[in-house]
Amino acid sequence: MSSPVTTSPPPPSGTPVGAPVLELRALTRTHGSGIAEVHALRGISLAVYPGELVAVMGPSGSGKSTLLTLAGGLDTATSGQVVIEGQDIASLGRKGIAALRRRSVGYVFQDYNLIPALTAAENIALPRELDGVSVRKARKEALAALAELKLTEIADRFPDEMSGGQQQRVAIARALVGDRRLVLADEPTGALDSETGETVLALLRTRCDQGAAGVMVTHEPRYAAWADRVVFLRDGSIVDQTVSTGAESLLAGVSEATGTNGTGGTGGTGAANGNSGTAGASEAAQ
Ligand SMILES: Nc1ncnc2c1ncn2[C@@H]1O[C@H](COP(=O)(O)OP(=O)(O)OP(=O)(O)O)[C@@H](O)[C@H]1O
Ligand SMILES: [Mg+2]
Repeated sequence: MSSPVTTSPPPPSGTPVGAPVLELRALTRTHGSGIAEVHALRGISLAVYPGELVAVMGPSGSGKSTLLTLAGGLDTATSGQVVIEGQDIASLGRKGIAALRRRSVGYVFQDYNLIPALTAAENIALPRELDGVSVRKARKEALAALAELKLTEIADRFPDEMSGGQQQRVAIARALVGDRRLVLADEPTGALDSETGETVLALLRTRCDQGAAGVMVTHEPRYAAWADRVVFLRDGSIVDQTVSTGAESLLAGVSEATGTNGTGGTGGTGAANGNSGTAGASEAAQ
């Protein structure tokens, strides 16, 4: 099924130019019906360009994971479109979406989602092998990814022999291995101490600087400070969008947009791109 292509909103000033890697167009997701109806997303439009890392923040239940699962083709929208590298994923069919996910989309799940019967290295190598990479090459790539995350010693351990933080880093390595153009990460630093969290953010940042597009859910302003833009969700809608200039503007943005006080440190070095200020909700919601 192919849907009509609508005009995309222009990128916010200061973001990289070129075609977006990911476009969400008027996306809604409703669960249940009648009195049990839950509007997890209420019309989200967002474009993420090559080189850009976008942080998604918002209270629990605001729709952050829903946004990411739809963007990654893991769930189907009630209405609206998800366009990845110019293709409306609804037109690809299940097999096509699965192939796109293996090849182009790295996904870090909130609960890691490692396969219990596979070791760390095997978990990382699996999507590459499924995509036709030789077992030997896939293992080599997996070991290199583990080394980058300082996890060489757990390469042959199974998930139940790892700490939560180690499982989380293995899940991140699995998302980054290969030539992924879009990296979607749901609280990738949740189980990590702040030093390891910064290492993970630096890796994500580098991957985006090399041309990938990244979307990361986080509750921590110090991690969001690594992003080029922060999108704030509340009750399934984008309520604000801030160009990152570092942790302090983010802390102000968090309390303004979500009605909460920002917590977390001010350690992020950020990826300020020279712009400052907060885009209006109307611009963010286009
Ligand atoms: N399968 C489902 N059935 C019914 N409601 C659901 C389902 N999945 C999510 N929801 C609801 O949709 C809303 C958004 O959920 P979502 O998991 O996207 O929130 P979140 O922002 O990721 O929260 P958290 O910060 O706690 O992870 C919530 O109200 C949630 O209860
Ligand atoms: Mg969530």
